[in-house]
Amino acid sequence: MTRPTLPVAFSLLAIAGILVVLSAAFAMAAGWLPPYRLGPGAIIDALEAHDGRHPGFRRAHAKGLCIEGSFAGNGNGAFLSKAGIFAKSDSPVIGRFSTGGGQPYAPDGRLAFRSLALSLTQANGEQWRMALDDTPTFLVATPQAFVDFLRATMPDQGTGKPDPAEVDAYMTRHPETRAFLRWQQDAPLSTSFANETFYSINAFRFIDDTGKTWMVRWSFEPETPFEAIDKATLGAKPANFLFDDVIARLGHNPLRWHLIVTVAEPGDPTDDATKVWPANRSRIDVGTLVIDRALAEENGDCRNITFDPLILPSGIAPSDDPLLPARTGVYASSLARRDGEHGKPSALADDPQARRTQP
Ligand code: HEM
Repeated sequence: MTRPTLPVAFSLLAIAGILVVLSAAFAMAAGWLPPYRLGPGAIIDALEAHDGRHPGFRRAHAKGLCIEGSFAGNGNGAFLSKAGIFAKSDSPVIGRFSTGGGQPYAPDGRLAFRSLALSLTQANGEQWRMALDDTPTFLVATPQAFVDFLRATMPDQGTGKPDPAEVDAYMTRHPETRAFLRWQQDAPLSTSFANETFYSINAFRFIDDTGKTWMVRWSFEPETPFEAIDKATLGAKPANFLFDDVIARLGHNPLRWHLIVTVAEPGDPTDDATKVWPANRSRIDVGTLVIDRALAEENGDCRNITFDPLILPSGIAPSDDPLLPARTGVYASSLARRDGEHGKPSALADDPQARRTQP
């Protein structure tokens, strides 16, 4: 048998290389290979490209206000988790109200997430941190879909609006995002942070003192009765109406929410934040959150920490939701960037009368 000449051998190698690349691409598209893992820096870059870079501020939920209060566990959750917070307990809380998006001076009258972040410190010193939104589900199931969504909805430099063809192509690939945004458009919206329900969205695992585990989600449900805002009036509201409202309310009385734990049944999805669980799942009221003080970020303790949802006490553990480890990395990366920057003052002051002029 004659051996191939050198140029023929190179051609054969090139063809083999092309076949390997094509097969890998085909296998990835078919879902046979794990998708490329996005690093936290790449996700932060996508957030900055979408909303601009605002030195000193969070790269998401940039507009916010520090809060303080306490959490009283009533003992009803102790059978689900050994975390001390679920015994009859009293824990100090620091937190943050925020609105979604990376623009720290954005007006409150828009359809964006309204959010509550909390850090509860147990008697044994362990902390439970969480960052919750006002929707029971999220717009994407994976970090890659989040980045793809940011890229598809990137405002065009000229028009200030995203390219409708890009948006449509993304929505066709991600019907769950289209369904979420339609739901958000139509769902009743509260008049205030005070009468809003905030959801963990992601599932977690609770572990009792015998080692038994339960899959759960949770929400904070307000004692202040729900009142719906007329969405047609949103655009005409003062720029900081939501934050001014909650500062004014806290100037008179503390605000209260009940921590409701919802327990999954076998087969309920725990790895997909876009999916709801059936409405008949057990719901247990495990304690009361009292918020009694609001402080501008410059004056409060919330600015230089992250509300990383994987800072958990013993007795609470992550689920298999891929958003959770991504959130940990991205929140740390956002803190690392803003920590080294000198930003402008926040749009929000403790006293609405003393509010600084916005830039
Ligand atoms: C791939 C998914 C997600 C990404 C990339 C992401 C990204 C971020 C980033 C960069 C921050 C700023 C962190 C900081 O500087 O401290 C942030 C804050 C926040 N995120 Fe997410 N997030 C994701 C999913 C979620 C989900 C599912 C929820 C709701 C359960 C959520 C709720 C919040 C809240 C409430 C804050 C504000 C926390 C605070 O006040 O400090 N995020 N997010």
